Amino acid sequence: MKGKTVLKVLNISKDFGQTHALKDVSVDIEQGEIIGLIGENGSGKSTLSSIISGVYPATKGTMELDGETYLPANPMDAQKHGISMIAQEMGTLPGIRVADNIFLGKEQLFVKKGVVNRKKMYEEAKHAMENIGIENINPEDPITRYSLEERKLVEVVRALYSDPRIFIVDETTTALSQKGRNLIYQIIRKLKAENKTVLFISHDLEELMEICSKMIVLRDGVYIAELQKEEFQEDRIKELMVGRKLTGDYYRSDYDGSCSDEIVLKGTDIHVGESVKGVSLELHKGEILGIGGLTDCGMHELGKALFGNTQLLYGQVVLQNGERIKSEKQAIKNRMGYVSKNRDQEALILSASILDNTVLPSLSKLSKAGLITKKAERDFTNKQVEKMSIKCREITQDVRDLSGGNKQKVVFGKWLGNESEILILDCPTRGIDIGVKAFMYQLMYQLKKEGRSIIMISEELPELIGMSDRILIMKDGRVQKSFERSESLSEAALIQEMV
Ligand SMILES: Nc1ncnc2c1ncn2[C@@H]1O[C@H](COP(=O)(O)OP(=O)(O)OP(=O)(O)O)[C@@H](O)[C@H]1O
Ligand SMILES: [Mg+2]
Repeated sequence: MKGKTVLKVLNISKDFGQTHALKDVSVDIEQGEIIGLIGENGSGKSTLSSIISGVYPATKGTMELDGETYLPANPMDAQKHGISMIAQEMGTLPGIRVADNIFLGKEQLFVKKGVVNRKKMYEEAKHAMENIGIENINPEDPITRYSLEERKLVEVVRALYSDPRIFIVDETTTALSQKGRNLIYQIIRKLKAENKTVLFISHDLEELMEICSKMIVLRDGVYIAELQKEEFQEDRIKELMVGRKLTGDYYRSDYDGSCSDEIVLKGTDIHVGESVKGVSLELHKGEILGIGGLTDCGMHELGKALFGNTQLLYGQVVLQNGERIKSEKQAIKNRMGYVSKNRDQEALILSASILDNTVLPSLSKLSKAGLITKKAERDFTNKQVEKMSIKCREITQDVRDLSGGNKQKVVFGKWLGNESEILILDCPTRGIDIGVKAFMYQLMYQLKKEGRSIIMISEELPELIGMSDRILIMKDGRVQKSFERSESLSEAALIQEMV
């Protein structure tokens, strides 16, 4: 039986200048349900959740909470009404401690006679973290000491501290490893058991189908449909999101896994900090080399090292032409490209336009006798935007304003434009909707066929198995095992080497 409606969203529209992010959307949010909010990149999911959680007001429309008008002035106000959200983009403040991040805006709780009782604050923070099973984060530490994943968990603690009855999770699981994800699932189940509501945004259909009791589909800012659990059916959901039937294979369908003998990149005994402890590998021309493992196995650091982004403690990375990669600049000059897992922090200049971000690694290619014309830049960017179907108003728009998935596409576009011969992709399809994901896989396969080489670091096993010619599984900073492409390769076989 369906729970009673707690929140009514009525004819909400939201414009950002010329962009109509939401158009006349009405939905009911019921008590005690886990509700999936789904749709392609830029379909308005984050916008809708931001309005519900008080980040900004709607342009038109109203909301009702328990039958009364609900118009949150800001996120604090929404929290007072029992609604809180973990935002898609990074939400902790650097420069302050973990505890300060948890109690941001709630410091008053610890003030006595005008003085903040820090000891009490730290204790309370520790308690709040332990409550949801987080033990290895010290509330007194500066937040910057922690990884993206750990900071995300601090955000979770902050959002839960107000004991919300509607909890909104905007693509948090994409930023987390399996362990972090399990923690979120546990929290979600606990909230449901307490008859509270979770609004859950994710691009992982499997995950959604498993945990949600209903799904709301948005497309281009418009409400499309609502599906109850018994109506969940993968092809149907995809069709509703994309607006057309998706046909053909998702991953490549060949199993020969062949590539040239030519070695384009050779890593020897690579050591990076504490995380990579002696990795040697060879990348062939026209090869898609998958690298998998648990998130802390060293694979992300290895990817950076191969691109000259981190100092090696020991070992070397050498290209076919004999050049030894020691810096990012040198890597780019040698036609290497790198898509970072943390796209906002490492891969994009958020305050610059799509155009500026896209042309950056290709400046030398675009220049004729040292001059680059505005037209050449525009044409080039337009081509990439079209190729990647980046949803934007204009190419001079700041990257900051793009939806999460569209930011990722800009990163991809900029390295492809560079005509990179070697691409290092760290979790390339993270936060990308299914339509574009399929396109990216096709693109990778096409690049392979053209003789370009790809290293794909991924936490998603189906993607590794589906796309790689060869897979290296890493564990504790070393290569644990190598698998050749084969139709019989199973996820279980890989997992066994990972843990
Ligand atoms: N602050 C902003 N200024 C201008 N445009 C914006 C802003 N925020 C969002 N948009 C635009 O509104 C549309 C909807 O974006 P939204 O972030 O809600 O999409 P989404 O469904 O969350 O996508 P994703 O899956 O990529 O996270 C997009 O076209 C986006 O570019
Ligand atoms: Mg979003």
